[in-house]
Amino acid sequence: MLNFAIQTARDAGRILAERFGRTLQVTNKSELDLVTESDLASERLIIDRIKTYHPRHAILAEESGASGPVAHAGDEWRWIIDPLDGTTNYAHGYPCFCVSIGLEHKGRMELGVVYDPMRDELFTAERGEGAALNGRRIQVSPVDTLAGALLCTGFPYDVRERSEFARHFANFIMNAQAVRRDGAAALDLAYVAAGRFDGFWEEGLKPWDVAAGSLLVEEAGGRVSKYDGTPLSIYTPPILASNGLLQEEMMRVLSI
Ligand code: IPD
Ligand code: CA
Ligand code: CA
Repeated sequence: MLNFAIQTARDAGRILAERFGRTLQVTNKSELDLVTESDLASERLIIDRIKTYHPRHAILAEESGASGPVAHAGDEWRWIIDPLDGTTNYAHGYPCFCVSIGLEHKGRMELGVVYDPMRDELFTAERGEGAALNGRRIQVSPVDTLAGALLCTGFPYDVRERSEFARHFANFIMNAQAVRRDGAAALDLAYVAAGRFDGFWEEGLKPWDVAAGSLLVEEAGGRVSKYDGTPLSIYTPPILASNGLLQEEMMRVLSI
């Protein structure tokens, strides 16, 4: 199953890379939320592969929703797909985006693959087997103070209707070493797993944004939870992810 996910993510990533920088057909799903022809082409490839090789598995994909034999949360096997995470970056020619593929079994994430075709970086995780970048084992960072931490966050598409995000952002800027906003949540989580970021928080994300990335963080030795420390549900984020050492301190800042 891991090899299947890897091959599929690589092939979908190739579609994104080939079309990157070209003039694209872009459609607005809402005022700020875009979809390009590349999102759709990538998703088509992934779904076709699953239907061919795993016809009995359910699918939850960003652009086409739920499909497959029995398609609802808690199905035996269910693929959770973001065919292009970082669409706004992609549409502007900013080379920070990825493909994210997760596999859930009876409601629990078992496998996650995040692929960045621009850097040819493939992040993989299997439950109980650790996490890897291009086949090499990765681990979260050892940074244990917020003052020394490089954090990342993102803003949901309904950001204009929310105000709390700005308070959290300001509070972390005042407490951390630095804060980034890269625009691809699945990649942000993969970077926490790889120790490049020490922590990440975001509200309003969808299951396909966090399915693969949350397993990557856990398998790399980090922690994922809601803002108050209770267990993460990929279906109802917010998500707070860190190297584990910063989880409590980040929870404290998010409660201010
Ligand atoms: C978005 C990105 C972004 C995050 C948004 C997501 P998309 O996903 O992950 O970083 O801030 O909340 O919706 O639309 O590019 O797949
Ligand atoms: Ca996404
Ligand atoms: Ca997407």
